[in-house]
Amino acid sequence: MTHSGKRSRIAGLGINLPSRVLTNAHLEKMVDTTDEWILSRTGIRERRIADDGVSASTLAIPAAQEALRRAGVSPEDLDLIICATSTPDMLFPSTACLIQRGIGARGCPAFDILAACSGFIYGLSVADKFVRSGSAKTALIVASEIFSRTVDWEDRNTCVLFGDGSAAAVIKATDGASHVIDTRIRADGTYADLLTGAAGPAGLGASKPADPKAHCIKMKGNQTFKVAVTNMADVCSSLLSDNGYTASDVALVIPHQANIRIIHAVAKSLDIPEDKMYINVHRYGNTSAATIPIAMYEAQEEGRLKKGDLVLLAAFGGGLTWGSALIRW
Ligand code: ACO
Repeated sequence: MTHSGKRSRIAGLGINLPSRVLTNAHLEKMVDTTDEWILSRTGIRERRIADDGVSASTLAIPAAQEALRRAGVSPEDLDLIICATSTPDMLFPSTACLIQRGIGARGCPAFDILAACSGFIYGLSVADKFVRSGSAKTALIVASEIFSRTVDWEDRNTCVLFGDGSAAAVIKATDGASHVIDTRIRADGTYADLLTGAAGPAGLGASKPADPKAHCIKMKGNQTFKVAVTNMADVCSSLLSDNGYTASDVALVIPHQANIRIIHAVAKSLDIPEDKMYINVHRYGNTSAATIPIAMYEAQEEGRLKKGDLVLLAAFGGGLTWGSALIRW
């Protein structure tokens, strides 16, 4: 069934974070690092770690249910489910299908998006286009990550950076003033080797003797940092100017929470005051695709998202991928 094409708005958000906290002090006992190094280089104080038996889909289901409840939407009303994850339960069924089953929805399309830390903005961009084309009236976008199972806990370069978490957004077709104004998603595979995740089951290494670290993230952090800042700032600038706005019109930026220094560098490049950059990386570290919807949820809870505000989302991740979304809240 198609509906009249309309703009989309974020109608409800939900989050679910594991209760287990891993502090920098814990990490000092695991690898050769210090709280001072982690805090000054990344801004991270602690992150959450999922218990054994919790997967991306089971972590996501309560977040999805909360988002549905807050949006006043029943699972059977969903026209689309997208899950952004780089740590799926399995390659198929998709984590989106497992979430669909878990929340009691049936029949609507459900699929995963693999765009690493840019996954939520990729998902939002796709869902917004479904709504604008008239193919969906109500969509659920879930981001859920269990990075604790894919980091190398012996590699201090990466293990201090990541955490587990999940968040969800329900978007609805609207004629009202609150809406997703525009989105941009980008990728450049020539940077593929800067940041790589788990080896795929049919990847080039599949026929070789098992590498015990094949499932681990590998990252050239310093190079990633530079490309991340340039590309996030560029995509935000062009999204703003293409829609007739300047950085001074923005009330709040919700950037991907990978590293506080990246956030500050993007603020500087865009000429946006640091107090307009939402930051919660100190609490959760980098939860990959989930950082932006978790941050949106917390910003809303803290009263930092007011009706009518111009809100800018910005992300980058492995691929490399990056993207931005502009929302009239
Ligand atoms: N504790 C102590 N020392 C450390 C640690 C640690 N945890 N990690 C690295 N170091 C050391 C390095 O070994 C190096 O030592 P050396 O000079 O003796 O060789 C030194 O610290 C400096 O290392 P750099 O990599 O130059 O440090 P930098 O200031 O670049 O910070 C960091 C590293 C935090 C990784 C930063 O580059 C970064 O955040 N990059 C972006 C990565 C990112 O955000 N990726 C997100 C995408 S994730 C996704 O899409 C899934």
